[in-house]
Amino acid sequence: MSFDLVLFGGTGDLTWRKLMPALFQAFRHGKLPGGGRILAVARDDRSDADYRKFIKDRFVEVESSKRPNEEEFARFAELLHYRRMDLSQPADYAGLKQWLDERGADTVVLYLATSPHLFTAITEQLGAAGLNAPHIRVVLEKPLGHDLASAQEINTVVRSVFTERQAFRIDHYLGKPSVQNLMALRFGNALFEPLWRRESIANIQITLAESLGVGTRGDFYDRTGALRDMIQNHALQLLTMIAMEPPSTSDADAIRDEKLKVLKSLKPFTAESVARDVVRGQYRAGNVDGKKVPGYLDEVKVPSGSHCETFVAIRTEVQNWRWAGVPFYLRTGKRLAARDAQIVVNFRPVPHPIFAGAHRANKLVIKLQPEDGLELHLLAAKGTGVGDMLAPVSLDLDFDKAFQSDRVGAYERLLLDAIAGRLNLFVRSDEQEEAWRWVEPVLDTWASEQRGGGEGPRGYAAGSWGPAAASALVARDGNVWSEEQ
Ligand code: BG6
Repeated sequence: MSFDLVLFGGTGDLTWRKLMPALFQAFRHGKLPGGGRILAVARDDRSDADYRKFIKDRFVEVESSKRPNEEEFARFAELLHYRRMDLSQPADYAGLKQWLDERGADTVVLYLATSPHLFTAITEQLGAAGLNAPHIRVVLEKPLGHDLASAQEINTVVRSVFTERQAFRIDHYLGKPSVQNLMALRFGNALFEPLWRRESIANIQITLAESLGVGTRGDFYDRTGALRDMIQNHALQLLTMIAMEPPSTSDADAIRDEKLKVLKSLKPFTAESVARDVVRGQYRAGNVDGKKVPGYLDEVKVPSGSHCETFVAIRTEVQNWRWAGVPFYLRTGKRLAARDAQIVVNFRPVPHPIFAGAHRANKLVIKLQPEDGLELHLLAAKGTGVGDMLAPVSLDLDFDKAFQSDRVGAYERLLLDAIAGRLNLFVRSDEQEEAWRWVEPVLDTWASEQRGGGEGPRGYAAGSWGPAAASALVARDGNVWSEEQ
């Protein structure tokens, strides 16, 4: 199957940091279909040779195991082409169409790796140039909108040019191997599903913690904040995977229909519940990995006195028969104590303890990063013959080790899926809008607090687990975050 992959924003960060390394890995693993061309599109004048050199130089910044050697790069570089385009000029789209038509590849993937404010303009131009035939797909990188109205605006334009089956909305968390494993765990095994409900599960915690700060992206981040950057998309997508009903088939729409139902069942926010169930924070100076780091307000390009949140913790519920009354806690933040993304499913304690000593309930930990695996925490008899004391033990599955050679990274997986036309791991427009609908009252409440001179986010020391109020949020239900268990 021949394909042409066009990267709009071909010299931008996303392209050289994530997409090119992922494409190279796919190439190295022999997974990229043959007969492919990768065309980078950007504003400045460059030859193919210049562009290849530009990408080669950038590979120095990629982790060494994923870097090509000379010979590998030379072979990979043959796929790379470059084209100058002014994205506001219809003639440049006509030129692109001609370039693509000359070869007539089986599949064309148009990847919008540009600044999101260009999405609607580019999409309209693609439509006007006739770059929307059925063999053409468009990939939209997040952030898709900054609220419900702007997301709807983008989706309206995208739907006027492409069908839903041609639109691939990326949430790179869905490409992470552990997230696919979550589906496999739930729907490929008979073991967990009978327990996967309110009768057995006490609460679920989704933590997406980063130890890095905002780096040089202060201006972007300040317009975004943790709620839009991580919760509206990544955390909610994970929540849907955990809470969804078993889909009737593995088709993209069967899965996405079930995910949408979860989003529609989330407990809606009111101004009162935002005050009670949402904690926002902003990092102050502190220590991360033994190094002193500045506070958010002292980062470059961050406006003074900013109220932007770099941490959010939320308590919510999925209001249906399976999950009624089970708290779902979501938490994300920059400059936290560790880079640690995981989902913890805390089971209920035994109904009638007969062993002496403290009893920890079972828990299942789905680890996304830094390692990728599963831990099942159980209690076992020590066998020391002293009393009946039980000891915690855990069954650990390290997927990185178990499937080492076959594992593919998130972007590699998603790019291959876009080329192959598999939509399962991409977000449908209605899911995305429903997620905005749910977070919007939180954004509105914060905005009105700010207008009323409110204090804004709570401070937390860089290198900690966020503001103390986040612990109080779960303590109210008699729970603790996983790192304190
Ligand atoms: C991106 C956010 O979507 O995800 C970034 O915009 C964040 O702020 C990143 O750092 C985290 O991704 P990962 O895969 O490193 O956990």
